[in-house]
Amino acid sequence: MIPKANYHSDAIFADEMRLLFARGWQFVALTTELANDRDFVCVDHEGASTVVQNFRGEIKAFQNVCSHRFNRIQTEDRGNRLLMCGYHGWTYDKDGFPKGLPKREQFLSEDNTHLCLPHYPVETCGKFVFVDRGGGAASLREHLGDFHATLEAMSDYLGAEVQFCRVPHAANWKLLVENVLECYHCATVHRDTFVPWGVGKLPISDAVFDAGHSSAHFPRVDQPREELRQRYLSHLAERKFTHNSFFHIYIFPNLFISSSQGLSFYVGQVLPLSAERTMLRMRNFEPNVTLSDKHRARQDPINADSIATGLKLIEEDRAILENVQRGVRVSDRPGMIGDDEVRIRAFLEHYARAMAMPALQAVAAA
Ligand code: FES
Ligand SMILES: [Fe+2]
Repeated sequence: MIPKANYHSDAIFADEMRLLFARGWQFVALTTELANDRDFVCVDHEGASTVVQNFRGEIKAFQNVCSHRFNRIQTEDRGNRLLMCGYHGWTYDKDGFPKGLPKREQFLSEDNTHLCLPHYPVETCGKFVFVDRGGGAASLREHLGDFHATLEAMSDYLGAEVQFCRVPHAANWKLLVENVLECYHCATVHRDTFVPWGVGKLPISDAVFDAGHSSAHFPRVDQPREELRQRYLSHLAERKFTHNSFFHIYIFPNLFISSSQGLSFYVGQVLPLSAERTMLRMRNFEPNVTLSDKHRARQDPINADSIATGLKLIEEDRAILENVQRGVRVSDRPGMIGDDEVRIRAFLEHYARAMAMPALQAVAAA
């Protein structure tokens, strides 16, 4: 366990932003969101505003703050427009230089490097796009380790995006991470969502760990009328990924990917706003299956249902996590981690190392 101050201290949060989020690879977007010229995705969290944008096929990442008077350049989560500041109209090129510059003679001199936006390395793994704002030494492949192959495979399973939204949480970002690393809470919190689907009774299986990343299956038990359900979903029988479980991947520090039997996929992105506030950016996908018009008519209501269930799940967790946030401020107990919560232990151990904290056991005993 880590000290409870790590869940609410502003000073520790500032250290986290410096040590964990301002350097090292961070998930920012999917390649599908950046497929066309001028497509952009904007990632804002405390202390950072980053834009990733397509410049005629080249994907570039810059600090999303204008060199002129500090206006944020792209102001939507994502979209398609020039990298043009909305204040005085400076328009930046693929090198981050304000090529379109009204009254340029007032600003240009011999050395114009200070006019360029700070730029960051961008790398992709399958459909997942990462940026390293600190320009760290490790490649993305090194950072992902065993999960590089996992993300490449998952990319192939993702079909069309069916939902994009954000959900604010009045809770520390680590509580959101810890919450998705276990399904021990599912039987209590998700009685109307996960449980009727058959998940939450069996222990986790096939857990994989690499540095702070981990994955596991949360097996499901077949439900009454299972055969009927299979028939209803038969148009997805040729999907590329099948497993009778909820499969979950966590990529340190900010990315969640999950698959519900390969029938639907979720990509969650954690954006810390302060020690006690976090934005969760959600994307949902259908499986990568070619559908006839008849099967499309069947799939659309299934997508609508999975969006509604996903939002309900997130709301169920959000209510609990905001309550935990209040509890963690007053408790004088160290807390406990059970066998079903081993991924939390791996996360916290990696977190403690990355934060240069004392060994976790020593902290727990202190
Ligand atoms: S602040 Fe961006 S153009 Fe002036
Ligand atoms: Fe949950």
